[in-house]
Amino acid sequence: MFTAPAIADEILDLKKERNAILLAHHYQAPEIQELADVIGDSLELARAARKFSGDVIAFCGVWFMAETAKVLNPDRIVVVPDREAGCSLVDSCPAAPIREFRRAHPDYTIVSYINTSIEVKAESDILCTSRNAVRIVNSLPPEQPILFLPDRNLGGYVRRQTGRENMKIWQGACVVHDTFPARRLVEARLDHPDALVVAHPECPESVLALADFVGSTSAIIEYCAASGAHEFIVMTESGVHHSLHRAAPGKRFHFVANEHCNCSECPYMKLNTLEKLRDALDTLAPRVELSGEIMARALAPLERMLAVK
Ligand code: 13P
Ligand code: SF4
Repeated sequence: MFTAPAIADEILDLKKERNAILLAHHYQAPEIQELADVIGDSLELARAARKFSGDVIAFCGVWFMAETAKVLNPDRIVVVPDREAGCSLVDSCPAAPIREFRRAHPDYTIVSYINTSIEVKAESDILCTSRNAVRIVNSLPPEQPILFLPDRNLGGYVRRQTGRENMKIWQGACVVHDTFPARRLVEARLDHPDALVVAHPECPESVLALADFVGSTSAIIEYCAASGAHEFIVMTESGVHHSLHRAAPGKRFHFVANEHCNCSECPYMKLNTLEKLRDALDTLAPRVELSGEIMARALAPLERMLAVK
């Protein structure tokens, strides 16, 4: 229903020819999700990349997710349809001050959200995603001083959930989630009094305080599908709409506009298009290329995260 047939066929042919897998985040456009072998949140996509044994990964998400897939597949080709598909959280956290912090505070454990550059990952002790952040922090000894980076909202949520006092939080933010105003959520609740509120932990505390459920994109979809409720106000990127409809047909979902774009779309995720995906599979570019040294350093905290059940 969503797919432009000619390009879709070209992509499927190229996928076969290249022995490629297509991984897509829930925030991708529906026509891309329709062609994907795996659709998931950042943790599920990292796990899927780790299992892959073909030749090419076409990563329809943002660059840091593709870098993660490359670290797990150093000898395979990883392409992203648009090289500019970045992330405001990655931009908010350069590696130099983290390196300096590490030197000055060798007693701290650095817990990095997967939404970081490869250079920041290489300075980290363990990674986390929005799905497992609470579990990852709880896996560390209770008295361990922690630097959590880069998302202030996810960090605050984790601190409240774990009760960790000894946790410094980097003050980065997601341009999409951090600009959802609680005021608009209150209005949406007045418009839809029967709806439950589900929110991604990158939203501000004032929004999370009003949520019936807080979780990663996949956790939100699972919650809405399993819930007895039929109507939800969804505080995350509107690309999840497609997966929500597939997982919970017949239920109703309302999105709230943020103050950044007066919409709920991630400007980076939406740079990927079917045409660019076709070209990426055809030319095998833009391709993630990383030095063996940086991949080895980033792999250690990534593997530590994946080992936490
Ligand atoms: P997930 O961990 O839910 O995939 O979220 C990643 C992300 O970039 C949210 O904005
Ligand atoms: Fe980054 Fe926010 Fe876009 Fe997620 S939604 S990729 S955190 S800018």
